[in-house]
Formats: sequence, structure tokens, C-alpha cells
Amino acid sequence: MKILVLNGSPKKKSDTFRLTDAFLKGLNKGNAHEVHIINVIDKKISPCRGCFGCWKNMSGHCVIDDDQNEILDLYRDSDVIIWSFPLYCYGMPSHLKAVLDRTIPLVKMNMVQMPDGTVHHEALADFTKIHTLVICGCGFPNWEGNFDGLKMMCRTCFGNPDIVCVPETPLMNVPEAVVVADPLLTRFEKAGEEYASNLSLSKATVAALEKPMISAEEYIRNVNGDKG
Ligand SMILES: Cc1cc2nc3c(=O)[nH]c(=O)nc-3n(C[C@H](O)[C@H](O)[C@H](O)COP(=O)(O)O)c2cc1C
Repeated sequence: MKILVLNGSPKKKSDTFRLTDAFLKGLNKGNAHEVHIINVIDKKISPCRGCFGCWKNMSGHCVIDDDQNEILDLYRDSDVIIWSFPLYCYGMPSHLKAVLDRTIPLVKMNMVQMPDGTVHHEALADFTKIHTLVICGCGFPNWEGNFDGLKMMCRTCFGNPDIVCVPETPLMNVPEAVVVADPLLTRFEKAGEEYASNLSLSKATVAALEKPMISAEEYIRNVNGDKG
């Protein structure tokens, strides 16, 4: 299988990527897969100019000559695409959103109305073979709504991907939190093995991965440095 990982954290020591890395360990246990990790922050990817030049030439490439065209080639050739990133203002970090915006060359201008009423652009290649997984970390403790906007966008853009939204991810890089972070890494590795067999995650697995490591009250107390 060809696996493309788009790492959208701008940090060298990403909280979210620690989880994704554990997941990849399980997913590629026997080293049977071709894994391509792209650290998006290191790539030169301009924002989309909205010129629709890509729809005129229909080459599957963007008219802007930068690193996005290499990503587009890998994208259409992948069996699995993992978007790994921190939640920024209830969505994707802007440099990763630029990658998503500029996947427009992979569809045509032609529109298709789906049975559920949604409208899509016709794909330029066969994307039904691509399985998408979103792994998103965030700085808040669990609260209803923190990930709603992101989930809506991902479901619509990626056609029902597996989505794993993890609260309290800064704990992944706090030495004192190792007792709660390590078991989560183990759960991610196991989830990777499950994904390798099924190319999807069960609801129970997603719930186990999204379970807060500590209570919201304790997390907020720690963040605020409260002693009492
Ligand atoms: C610009 C910016 C916006 C953020 N917005 C949110 C947010 O909307 N919700 C949230 O829970 N955390 C938010 N965070 C916190 C990050 O998601 C959190 O620190 C995460 O663990 C960073 O992951 P990384 O180490 O993989 O980059 C934001 C952080 C930054 C820098």
C-alpha cells in the first residue's frame, strides 16, 4: 500500500505527530508499505490564486510551479492519506489548508449532484480507492463543539474519512504526563494495526483514542499552574 502522511504541525516536536508516529508503527508493522511523510511546513506551497488555470489545462497539476505539484502526484497515487495536524482556530493550520485548497486540480469543473443532495466536482482520477484518515490534536480539554467545524469540513472534503480528534495533546510532550501519554501511544499503535487490516477504525477504537488523558478540571488546573 502507498501511504501519504501530510504532517501539518509547524513544530519540530509535534504533540500530534507523536500519536501519528505511533499509529504508523502499528500500520506498517511488517514494513510492507511505502510510507511517504511530508512535513508541509518545510515545503514551498503558496496559497491558491483562484485562477482556475488547472481546470483549463486539466493536467492534474497547478499552474503555480511550487512543491504542491509533487504532493498532487503522490496524492492521486496513494491508497491511504493521513492528515495529521493540530487544531488551529477550530480548523486546519493555514499552511496545510493551502495544500487542501490546491487539491482543486484533481477535480474537474463539471458538477455532480449526489443522491443526498450535496454537489461535488467530478474527479479527474479514481479517488474511491483512497482511504483518508484525519488525526487532529488540540490544546483544550474535551468540550462539546471544539472540533465541530473541522469535522464538518473534513467529512465534506474527504467523503466520510475516519476522524480522530484528541484533546489535551500538549500532554504528549510533558515529562510528568508520561503515565497517561504512554498508554495513549500504545492505543494509537494498536489502532494502526487495526487500520492495516480493515482500512477503517471501529467506533470503539476512535472513542478509546479520543478519551481525555486526564479530567478537564485537572488539565485546566495544570495549565493555569494552580497549586490548590
Ligand atoms: C494559532 C493556534 C491556534 C490554536 N487553536 C486551537 C483551537 O481552536 N482549539 C484548541 O483546542 N487548541 C488550539 N490550539 C492549540 C494546539 O492545537 C495545541 O497546542 C496542539 O497540541 C499543538 O499540536 P502540535 O504540537 O502537533 O503542533 C491552537 C494553537 C495555536 C498556535
